Amino acid sequence: MKEKLLELKTKALKELESVTERSDIERLRRRYLGRKGLLTLLLKRLPELPKEERPPIGRLVNQVKEELTGRFQAVTDSLTTNDVKEVSAFDVTLPGRRTPLGHLHPITQITEEICNVFLKLGFRVVQGPEVELDYYNFEALNMPKNHPARDMQDTFYISDNVVLRTHTSPIQIRIMESKSPPVGIVAPGKVYRPDSDISHTPMFHQVEGLLVDKGVSFGDLKGTLTTFVHQMFGPDVDLRFRPSFFPFTEPSAEVDIRCVVCQGKGCRVCSYSGWLEILGSGMVDPEVFKVVGYDPESISGFAFGMGVERIAMLKFGLDDIRIFFENDIRFLRQF
Ligand code: DAH
Repeated sequence: MKEKLLELKTKALKELESVTERSDIERLRRRYLGRKGLLTLLLKRLPELPKEERPPIGRLVNQVKEELTGRFQAVTDSLTTNDVKEVSAFDVTLPGRRTPLGHLHPITQITEEICNVFLKLGFRVVQGPEVELDYYNFEALNMPKNHPARDMQDTFYISDNVVLRTHTSPIQIRIMESKSPPVGIVAPGKVYRPDSDISHTPMFHQVEGLLVDKGVSFGDLKGTLTTFVHQMFGPDVDLRFRPSFFPFTEPSAEVDIRCVVCQGKGCRVCSYSGWLEILGSGMVDPEVFKVVGYDPESISGFAFGMGVERIAMLKFGLDDIRIFFENDIRFLRQF
């Protein structure tokens, strides 16, 4: 009986090794351990044995039963976890997971486009601080305290002498302080003014430009800015230089382009004038050169500053500046 038991155990374990389906294990389990299983049948024949042999064989039967039950359970468990793993690891019928891909904000795109035009003309790109000293933002640009020109630029004050820069022009001073001529730079960046309506946001962007060298003339200014306008808006777009005033340039001019919406016939966008103002410019005022220690007798230069949002709105045909900063993905996706 003892041999039979051990033989049965070996056979059961061997058969168990070759099963891969859960239903097969169950069938095997019933064959050996079920109520009418082989082990149970052996157990039923226990009374046939001589009395003294019954206890040790009884113990052996229980031992084999326990061992087999354990093995069956272990194999069942391993199949179950493998099954689950296989399903969750890789289902080739599922659609792929798309990685969302962003792109540059339209204002960044236009800023880069503007800078690229000037890079090709030989200008360098530089940047300056957004939190700026009153000195660089106003004073050194020929706008002393109480100068009426300060009124043109409503200002966020951090303290008496520190402001959020209202324009990118302070970079002119910083770059001229740090190196001697020739200087040819463009400076893109954020600027701030407490203004908010359909054509103003408290934060917006400008690109500043400065060229200083021996013998720079108003003709150079006109040529450079004409090239810029034609690169940005197309070679057929008309432009004009209109006399203006800025405390840090003399003479000063604003540049208008023929309205891109109505081609100059007059519409709401150009206030029925046929022209759109796109930037301020002028020959650097000798007072500014003196402040940075340049000699206005031996060098000259021109400067300009433009609003990036304004140019972007004209290029994209938008009539409300605020939409750039609402972070509406449906708007931003279009660029
Ligand atoms: N900083 C001026 C503004 O924000 C724009 C400007 C005008 C810049 C003339 C210049 C310039 O460099 O020459 O209104």
